[in-house]
Amino acid sequence: MLENKFPKGFLWGSATSAHQVEGNNHNDWSEWEKSRQRVSYLKSMGRNPDEFISGRTCDHYNRFRADFDIAKSLGHNAHRFSIEWSRIEPEEGKFNEKEIEHYRDVIKALRERGLEPFITLWHWTIPLWVRDKGGVESKEFPKFFARFSKKMAEDFPEVKYWMTLNEPTSVIANSYFRGLWPPQKKSIYSVIRVYNVLAKAHKMAYFAIHEINPEAQVGFGNLMIDLEPFSLNLLDIFASKFRDYWSNIYFLKLVGDLNDYYALQYYFHLKISFPQRVRNENQKISDMGWEIYPKGIYNLLKRLGKLKKPIFITENGIADNIDKNRAQFIEEHLKWISKAGEEGVDIRGYFYWSLMDNFEWESGFGPRFGLVEIDYKTLERKIRPSALAYKKIIESQKG
Ligand code: FCB
Repeated sequence: MLENKFPKGFLWGSATSAHQVEGNNHNDWSEWEKSRQRVSYLKSMGRNPDEFISGRTCDHYNRFRADFDIAKSLGHNAHRFSIEWSRIEPEEGKFNEKEIEHYRDVIKALRERGLEPFITLWHWTIPLWVRDKGGVESKEFPKFFARFSKKMAEDFPEVKYWMTLNEPTSVIANSYFRGLWPPQKKSIYSVIRVYNVLAKAHKMAYFAIHEINPEAQVGFGNLMIDLEPFSLNLLDIFASKFRDYWSNIYFLKLVGDLNDYYALQYYFHLKISFPQRVRNENQKISDMGWEIYPKGIYNLLKRLGKLKKPIFITENGIADNIDKNRAQFIEEHLKWISKAGEEGVDIRGYFYWSLMDNFEWESGFGPRFGLVEIDYKTLERKIRPSALAYKKIIESQKG
């Protein structure tokens, strides 16, 4: 059904992030995972803290070549991953050449397998020295981040696709509003501040990368939620619009035109009733409890399409332990994506989240998002049937 629906040169792949797959990172998250406060909280909830410590995770740092062999065997022609800032700049202004060499090998391994690298520069974790200076609340953060971004653009001049920030609004909501992620704050003052600091960081990095590589395509990963009011009651409409503004629009506004493409990251749909309550009747949900709603990606693509820039879907995926719904999830989303494409939206790529099971932030190792299953005891990789269903779709595109 999806045969030949996507344009020539379309990027097909999956995404990962350094902290979630590499193993043995030393950054603000790895410290937080082991902190006394976090461990005692998990114990008080009757959970085993070991399942919430990233540790060696998938050991992708050492196994990236074999993992890319798998991605290639699955028909992918692109791969999104992140460079871990804390490896490259463990101390302020001191770049670790050995780690730069590591990522050079990663990029080379991708190219050798015909996979186009799509690189994220900040997928949430920060070096400890950045944390100690106030992290993303610090006025200096944009300067630090732009310096790191520039260095990466200099070291990897042949990379075309750069993503500065991954989902700034997720960090703003979870670290500074809900107090769930490090540094676990609940402050409206911090929320507003971090919006501005991150927008400035994006803009400065945008210029820094372009200064080195004018041909580069630079954007940021925007988590978008498909929202609608629970009823036609004016208060529900207001609540839904309010949430839409803060979740989907405000950061885009702050960044303005300094984007070469839009990166859409879509997972779910919500119905909002006043005051900010979420109610859904459709109870088809993932293992994360997220509503499965493929049409939502179409709604968001149509909205973004009006901004007249190329769009990449840089994340879309499902936690599905037994791989029951994943193949259908991918297929249905791609159907809606192709419909938006047919209606004139300029969509250039799709990256399923994730290539393999990995460390899912505060939820630890429980949720399974991978096309490839990981046995965390042996680190054995097993290709899931849904990965083959995705491969079939990719192969049905003759370009
Ligand atoms: C996104 C994150 C990604 C992963 C998925 C499930 O919000 O960018 O790292 O955790 O959710």
